[in-house]
Amino acid sequence: MKKNIISMCANVARATVSGAAIAAFTSFAAHAAELPNAALVAHGEYLARAGDCIACHTMQGGKPFAGGLKFDTPIGAIYSTNITPDANTGIGKWSYDDFAKAVRQGVRPNGETLYPAMPYPSYARLSDDDMKALYAYFMQGVGPVQAQNRAVDIPWPLSMRWPLGAWCMLFAPKVQAFDGSHYNDAIVARGAYLVQGLGHCGACHTPRASTMQELALTDLEGDDFLAGGGPIDGWVPSNLRGNPRTGLGSWSEDDIVQFLKSGRNLHTAAFGGMTDVVQHSMQHMNDADLLAIARYLKTLPTSDPKETPYAYDAAAANKLQSGDASARGAAVYRDNCMACHRSDGRGYTRVFPALGGNPVVQGKDPTSLIHVLLAGSALEGTKSAPSSFTMPPFGWRLSDQEVADVSTFVRASWGNAGAPVSAEDVAKVRKTVTVSTPASPPGATLKR
Ligand code: HEC
Ligand code: HEC
Ligand code: HEC
Repeated sequence: MKKNIISMCANVARATVSGAAIAAFTSFAAHAAELPNAALVAHGEYLARAGDCIACHTMQGGKPFAGGLKFDTPIGAIYSTNITPDANTGIGKWSYDDFAKAVRQGVRPNGETLYPAMPYPSYARLSDDDMKALYAYFMQGVGPVQAQNRAVDIPWPLSMRWPLGAWCMLFAPKVQAFDGSHYNDAIVARGAYLVQGLGHCGACHTPRASTMQELALTDLEGDDFLAGGGPIDGWVPSNLRGNPRTGLGSWSEDDIVQFLKSGRNLHTAAFGGMTDVVQHSMQHMNDADLLAIARYLKTLPTSDPKETPYAYDAAAANKLQSGDASARGAAVYRDNCMACHRSDGRGYTRVFPALGGNPVVQGKDPTSLIHVLLAGSALEGTKSAPSSFTMPPFGWRLSDQEVADVSTFVRASWGNAGAPVSAEDVAKVRKTVTVSTPASPPGATLKR
């Protein structure tokens, strides 16, 4: 699992905020008296799931929380750290204050600033109570693993620590505690706390400035909040606001809950970076918290008042059903897609996603759509929906032009209103994704 998250002080380098001497570490034993009970540890584990700490702090095939996952940035690679309670290589000697300062403010005990690939601008919103539970979990609920942290692979002088501090002063969002008083409903306030805080949904779903900071960290900072982020590893995090076509405007609260819990609903199925979020984090949330997240998301107004509502249009389906495949891309669709996604573009609920009305299909940036067509995707099973379904890859046998044609067809059919896709758009995405070729069955030759 390689993450290409540029959600960080990426155009500059690491820095020391204070340049201060190494802070004296307090020993783990000294804090034993304060260590809380099993219920607190269990609550901390739940919160660690809500924050998806494991996804970033675990390498492929590595021990949970032992770090080492690589993050590519425009200036070089950095690695997540060991956050198990190992005394020498992990955070075993960290006091509660050390831990809270790193997670909420991005400052290490020795005064170094962390790269915001660690989403501390979001975690800043965590309450003291939740921080204490998280600390209890990482100290008592996680087994210590000896694993040395890896140094950054950023060439000098960019690896010097001072410019990051300067960048953060200029651009980094203010580290702010959560203020629930803006929300007049307790459930909405809870949802806001989870989405803006532990869930760090905006790290992917909010657009960034050219200087890399998220354009808004909360709904109070404007309509850019959760208005759709730039591609991460070739997948575009969608708009989560009330936009009727490209956002969640037509989704009910229950649709959102079902998606977060099982990775699928009537409208779509999870893929790309969202698969991890569902697998490691959201499927473990209790129903009350999922409902709170959904209710909060539904309060966010559209970011584009000109976007028209989606209405199903049967014209494309009628033509396909009567054998008319003259529209651009219709024949490619009939031959390759119709068996699963059907002529009416409605798919089979919770098995093959609907393409009509699907925000991913009509989004402004067609990267995800092209990516899924070229490389395929697997919808992974979850606790509440254990079955897994696969979208086959087409990149090995459809040309850039054919992929462009079928993309254009699905973007314009069944009431969808997405702009056409060109062969050049497809060629660009093809360069960045891995297109596998299925093995021929024994005794058969596949025409390529
Ligand atoms: C999106 C990826 C991501 C997520 C999610 C994430 N982290 Fe991190 N974290 C990192 C990276 C990368 C670093 C190292 C940053 C650096 O080297 O400047 C880091 C550093 C840290 C550190 C500093 C450790 C040290 O030795 O300096 C702590 C503590 C930490 N994370 C705790 C957590 C906790 C607790 C959670 C969940 C609530 C979490 N992280 C979630 C990416 C992440
Ligand atoms: C690591 C990046 C990442 C994070 C963090 C993330 N998402 Fe996503 N999300 C994506 C991507 C990429 C997609 C598009 C693929 C898809 O639809 O599954 C997506 C899609 C979605 C969708 C489906 C939207 C649609 O129109 O199909 C919802 C709902 C969603 N995310 C909610 C959330 C919530 C709530 C959070 C925070 C708890 C969150 N996401 C955090 C990357 C992320
Ligand atoms: C064998 C059945 C099958 C065929 C054939 C198929 N798909 Fe899919 N498709 C799926 C499944 C299953 C998913 C969900 C994958 C996931 O969530 O990871 C999917 C996902 C998608 C998505 C992403 C939508 C979303 O919300 O997740 C698009 C777009 C798509 N397919 C378009 C097409 C097109 C266009 C074709 C023909 C070129 C095609 N599919 C052929 C099964 C199929």
